[in-house]
Order: sequence, then structure tokens, then C-alpha cells
Amino acid sequence: MARRRQIYEGKAKILYEGPEPGTIIQYFKDDATAFNAQKKGEIAGKGVINNRISERIFTALGGIGVPTHFIKRLNMREQLVREVEIVPLEVIVRNYAAGTIAKRLGLTEGERLPRTVIEYCYKKDELGDPLVSEEHIACFGWASQEEMNDIADMAIRINDFMSGMFAGIGIKLVDFKLEFGRLWDNDFSRIILADEISPDSCRLWDAETDKKLDKDRFRQDLGDVADAYQEVARRLGLLKDDKGEEGAVLDFDEHRNKRGK
Ligand code: C5P
Repeated sequence: MARRRQIYEGKAKILYEGPEPGTIIQYFKDDATAFNAQKKGEIAGKGVINNRISERIFTALGGIGVPTHFIKRLNMREQLVREVEIVPLEVIVRNYAAGTIAKRLGLTEGERLPRTVIEYCYKKDELGDPLVSEEHIACFGWASQEEMNDIADMAIRINDFMSGMFAGIGIKLVDFKLEFGRLWDNDFSRIILADEISPDSCRLWDAETDKKLDKDRFRQDLGDVADAYQEVARRLGLLKDDKGEEGAVLDFDEHRNKRGK
């Protein structure tokens, strides 16, 4: 059998050519990087968990009418997605002060922002993904005005939906990063949500204790990184229970269906 063709290897994922034209297989690795890959490590089982968490969120977003690249999960670490032309922007949505906005503007971490803020960073590793304004985006043609309107509208809808979804499981959605892509149909394209949404790309705090349940545990050497990711998966109903076998015991829907639950 011919080996499938690798299209791209990123910090946390590998993309392979999909079975049909216009499709791609997204493989989730356990590798973790921070500070523009200056810090590198591995979080055991992260790829498996992020695959499931991202599937859950993308499916739910699809359900409320947000167009996404997600087609289906293939196995523990892979999902089939639509091939898109990635818009070279990281779209960051913030509800509370943390990370770079806290540092840049001298805000106290955890402070609720007066309103939700959307920021754009230019996706360019060599430059450390710099913060850019809509003027830059228009000037350099990274996205059209119409595309930016769609991106901002979707970002707000996604934030509203995800804030509620996480609040329901005792988690505060502090901030998160989105990526969008163009889906081409002959000469026309439309913007759809791409990439992943997981504890790698969100700040998720326990609503009662403010315990960090995301990649900041890795960035800041807080320990128990894999446990935090598992906790998010468990609260989303993706893990069997705490007393299962050792490690991340994923309760596959297939098994659940077989048991008739
Ligand atoms: O570091 P910063 O505070 O700007 O990050 C904002 C949010 O975007 C965080 O949830 C972080 O995990 C996410 N992010 C990301 N990938 C990047 C930069 C930020 O997922 N390259």
C-alpha cells in the first residue's frame, strides 16, 4: 500500500492528504511548544484528548450553524477535514485579562475585560506572530473587508456559544485562538472555521478555584498538565471516569452506544 502523502507538519499536528480531493487528515501529536517553539515538550495523551475535545466543539458549532472544516473523526488521533486556504491570521478572543494582553497593557490576570476583545496576529513564526490591526490586514491583503466581517461575526458567535458550554461544566473561558480558512468553489470562496479548538488554544480556568486547565500549565511549569487536559475532557463527558484504567481512558461513543446508554 502506498504511504500517504504528508502535506505539512506543524508544532502540534501533521496534515496528510485525505482520501478524496479537497479533504485532509489532521493528526494530533503529543508534542507541545510554547513561546514560539523556544520551549518544547510532550504531554502524554494530549493528541488523543485534543482530537476528541476539538471534535466535540466543532460538531457543536456546526450544530448552531457555524461553518467548519470538520467532517468526521477517523480514529484516536486523526480527523478528516475539508481542505482550505488558511487565512494567515490568528484570531484571539478575550473575555478576561491573561497572557500577552495582561503583560502589554499592565492588567491584572483574571480581571474581567469591560467587553470582549478580538485581536488579530499575523501568522508568521519567524516574526513571532505579531499583533496587527485591521489596517495592516487590509493594507497587505491578508483578508478582504467582507471576509473580516464574517470572521468577526463568527468569532463573537463562537465565543458566546463556548462561554455558555464551558460555564455549564464549571469552566471559565478566559480567552482562545481561532483560525479560519477559505473554502473554494470554482472562482468563489467562503470563510469557514479551521484548525482546532482545545486546551492548547484556549485558556480554561476552573470557575470556582481559577485553577488553570490548559496549556498555561505547560508554559508556566505548573505541573499536572496531562491531568488538566483530562479534566476538561472528563467534564465534557469524553472520559469514562476517574476510577477507570490508568491514564486517559476514553469512553468511545461506539462503546457507549453498544451498551445502550
Ligand atoms: O499568548 P496570548 O495571551 O496572546 O494567547 C491568547 C490565547 O490564544 C490563549 O488562549 C493561547 O492559548 C492562544 N494562542 C494560541 N496559539 C498562539 C498564540 C496564542 O493558541 N500561537
